Amino acid sequence: MSVSASNIDASASSADRTIVAGLPMPEFRKIGVEPISGACGAEISGVDLRQPLSPDVLDEIMLAFEHFLVIVFRDQDLTPEQHKTFSRHFGEITEIPQAPTYGDHRDMQEVRREAHEPENVVPSFESFHTDSPFLLQPPLGIVMRALAVPKFGGDTAFSNAYLVYEDLSDSMKALVDELQIVYSGKHIWSNNEKLPPEKRLRLRESHDFREDELENIHPAVRVHPRTGRRALFANTAYFQRFVGWTEDESRALLNYLQSLAQRLHYHCRVKWKKDTLIVWDNRFLLHRGVHDFKYERRHLIRTTLKGERPIGPSDFSQAK
Ligand SMILES: [Fe+2]
Repeated sequence: MSVSASNIDASASSADRTIVAGLPMPEFRKIGVEPISGACGAEISGVDLRQPLSPDVLDEIMLAFEHFLVIVFRDQDLTPEQHKTFSRHFGEITEIPQAPTYGDHRDMQEVRREAHEPENVVPSFESFHTDSPFLLQPPLGIVMRALAVPKFGGDTAFSNAYLVYEDLSDSMKALVDELQIVYSGKHIWSNNEKLPPEKRLRLRESHDFREDELENIHPAVRVHPRTGRRALFANTAYFQRFVGWTEDESRALLNYLQSLAQRLHYHCRVKWKKDTLIVWDNRFLLHRGVHDFKYERRHLIRTTLKGERPIGPSDFSQAK
């Protein structure tokens, strides 16, 4: 049986409920939830993440995360250990091979640009993307906290990949439902070396991943393993080709699909403040940093949550 977005939520029967992120707005009683846009994202209030969370509160945080795909908490002055403890509610913390680690915390990464450093974002990260799709089990999500941010700018923008897929024509859905993508992270380091020093990304210097773990094939349409909701899982970062397609054919279709994610009505945008903590889904949501600032420091630290192996439409229907 296939499950469509309209029949996922049994409580969605009431026609007078607000639709946000493509589904009827759930009810929240224990936490404050303020949607950021109609497409994705919500600010959560009334929660101190330094304290243990009651099961009721935690259930609502998880519901908000599933519904909005990105949830934002303000004024969360956490220690790295508190950051990790909160992260583990969403899943196991995992390492990734390329992002530099944060201080002595091998299980945390940092995104840092010093005030004197130039903008050095490679083009594929200037587009909406998911992190590390080349891994067999790409990250489920990211928990990121701001230590230092520019006065203005340096936001992170998000694009809801469920909505991108749901707006495709039935014929295009049928085409992409069948597609598989080769994603590869094998060339991250050699490509970086080719750039002039001032343009290079700050990369992790060593890691324990084998070469063959850095390339994998995933479905172009990703299915939520429980709800069956489908999302486009095709974007330029680390993309090599569609399986069975030439490189030219692959690029032409990919460019079209990637362009859809740029439409503003799929987006929300989060302004960082010091001690803002964001949890975002890396499976059904695309993200990108907005590098519109200069001469100011931006320092974000994160944990990465281990994800499941992506399943496509045919895997999901076979599992039913
Ligand atoms: Fe990213």
